[in-house]
Amino acid sequence: MLLKFLTLSLTVCVLARKDKPCAAKNISGQSVVCVCNATYCDELHRSLPTKQTFYVYTTSESGLRFKKVAHTFKDECVNCNQIDLVLDLKRTYQKIQGFGGAVTDAAGINWKSLNTALRKLLTKSYYSKAGLEYNMARVPIGGCDFSTHPYAYNELPVNDKYLSNFTLSPEDYKYRLPLLSEITKTSKVPVNIVATTWSPPPWMKTNNAYTGVGQLKKEYYQTYADYHLKFIEKLSSKGFPIWGITTTNEPTTGLINAFNFNSLGWTSDELGKWIVGNLGPTIKKSKYKNVKIMTCDDQRNTIKDYFIDIVKKYPKALKYIDGIAVHYYSDGKFAPHILDEVAKTHPEKFILCTEASEGTFNWEKSDIALGSWRRAKTYIRDIIKDMNHHIVGWLDWNLCLNPQGGPNWANNYVDSPIAVFADKQEFYKEPMYYALAHFTKFIPRNSIRIKVKSSTKSVESVAFLTPRNTVVLVLFNDNNKTSLNIKYGGKTTKLNLIEKSITTVEFLHEKS
Ligand SMILES: *[C@@H]1O[C@H](CO)[C@@H](O)[C@H](O)[C@H]1NC(C)=O
Ligand SMILES: *[C@@H]1O[C@H](CO)[C@@H](O)[C@H](O)[C@H]1NC(C)=O
Ligand SMILES: *[C@@H]1O[C@H](CO)[C@@H](O)[C@H](O)[C@H]1NC(C)=O
Ligand SMILES: *[C@@H]1O[C@H](CO)[C@@H](O)[C@H](O)[C@H]1NC(C)=O
Repeated sequence: MLLKFLTLSLTVCVLARKDKPCAAKNISGQSVVCVCNATYCDELHRSLPTKQTFYVYTTSESGLRFKKVAHTFKDECVNCNQIDLVLDLKRTYQKIQGFGGAVTDAAGINWKSLNTALRKLLTKSYYSKAGLEYNMARVPIGGCDFSTHPYAYNELPVNDKYLSNFTLSPEDYKYRLPLLSEITKTSKVPVNIVATTWSPPPWMKTNNAYTGVGQLKKEYYQTYADYHLKFIEKLSSKGFPIWGITTTNEPTTGLINAFNFNSLGWTSDELGKWIVGNLGPTIKKSKYKNVKIMTCDDQRNTIKDYFIDIVKKYPKALKYIDGIAVHYYSDGKFAPHILDEVAKTHPEKFILCTEASEGTFNWEKSDIALGSWRRAKTYIRDIIKDMNHHIVGWLDWNLCLNPQGGPNWANNYVDSPIAVFADKQEFYKEPMYYALAHFTKFIPRNSIRIKVKSSTKSVESVAFLTPRNTVVLVLFNDNNKTSLNIKYGGKTTKLNLIEKSITTVEFLHEKS
C-alpha cells in the first residue's frame, strides 16, 4: 500500500542577521575548533518553527558547526511506503530538569585569566540564548581535585563539632562567586545549582587526610550534615540559592587504598544511616527543606549499593531522597538497564547525570584533544542513551580548562568543551561543545521525552515535546550519508543526513 503523506521538498539555507558562524581552525588529523577572541565569537541561535517551516541544525566531523537550514512542508509524496522514524506524542516519559557544567576552582581560574570581554563571551557561550542555554551548574563544597591545593571549609580549629569557623575560601571569593554571578546574570532562566562535597576537613575523617581510605568518624555524623546546611546558607546569603545537594562525591573512591584526590568513603549501610539519622532531617527541618537530596553521585553500577540497598535497609530514606545522581565514566562498561529498573520501581525519584568528561583514562594520549570528533561522538551517544533511559538532565564537568586540562592539584587532568589560552587571550570551542548544543539549546526545563518508533539501525535518535510548544528530534548518524523518512503527526518529511553528523530538528507542535 502506498501511503499518502505531506512531504517536504523545499530546503532553504538561512542565515539570520544575528547568526555568527564559527571562526574555524583546522586541527591536523582532527575536526575543527571554533576560535573566540575579544572581538569575535560565533553564536548559536534557534529560529522559531512555524506551521509550514521547520529548522534543521547540523554539526559534523567534516567541519559543519550548527549549520541551520529551513525546510518547508510541501504536499507531495516521496518514497512514502517506507517510514523510518515515527514521533509518537502519545507515549511520554521523563520530565527534563536541564543541562549544565561545573563551576570548579579550575573553571574559575581559567575564566578569570581572560580579559573582561572574553569572560563575558565565555559565560554567554554557555548560559545565553546565543550559546548552549545551560540552566544548571554543579559547585563543589570546598575543594576538589580541580583546585590548586586540597582544602575544605572549617579546617581550623580541629575537632570543631559545631563548625564555629565556617567561612568560604579565598578561591570562592576570587574565582567561583564572580563566575557564578556572571552565569546567573547571563541566564534568562533560573540556574539550578547542585552542590557536592568531595572531602570534609580531615579532622572529621578516620584517616585524618583528604585522600586515601577515609570515612566519616561517628562523632561527626551530625557535624557533616550541618556542614552541608552551612554551605547552603552561605551561598543563599550571597544570592545563589542551592537547588540540590548530593550525599558526597563518588563514595566508592574513599574506600580505595591510595586514592589520590579528595574523597570520603561510604559503605551503603553507613550512608543510609547518615541520610536517615542526620542529613535528611537536618535539611528537611530547615528553612531549606526544598533543597533536593540526591544519593549515589557515582558510576551507574553503584546505584544498587547507594540507592536500592539503602532504601531496602532504611525505608525511611525514601522520605529524604529526591533523586539519584550518576556519573558518566563507566557508561561504556555497564548497560543502562539499572536506570530502567529504578525508574520502574521508584518512578517518583529522578535520575540526573551530575558529572561527565573525556580524557580521563591513563591510556588516552592527551587530556585535552583539540578538535577531537571522537570525544564529541562519545558525548552524543551517551546523552542519547541516557535520555532514552530516563535520565532527566546531564551535567558536564569543568566549564573550561587550560591547554593541559587543569589546573588540578592531583594531576588528574581531563578535557573540557572549552579550552582557554590565557597567553593568546583566546578560547577554543571544541566539537564536544557543539555536540552538547544539539541537546541543551532545544530541550528546556520541563520538556517531556516522547517515543520515537524507529525502524532504522543506522541512526540513533531521541525526541521531546517542549514547553516552547515545539517537538525536538535529535539524530546521530555515525555512518555514511543517508536519508530518513520521518512521520510527525499527519506529515512526513524526508531528511538527508550527511556522514558522521549530529542533527537537531525542531518542529512546531500542532495540537490535534
Ligand atoms: C580546513 O581544511 C579544509 C579541508 O582540508 C579546507 O577546505 C578549509 O578551507 C580549511 N579551513 C581553514 C579555516 O583553514
Ligand atoms: C579575532 O577573530 C577574528 C575572527 O577570526 C579575526 O578576524 C580577528 O583578527 C581576531 N582578532 C585578534 C586580535 O586576533
Ligand atoms: C578560622 O579559619 C581561618 C581560615 O579560614 C583560620 O585562619 C583561622 O585561624 C581559624 N580560626 C580559628 C580560631 O581556628
Ligand atoms: C561508506 O562509503 C565508503 C566510500 O564510499 C564505502 O567504502 C563504505 O563501504 C561505506 N560504508 C558503509 C557502511 O556503507
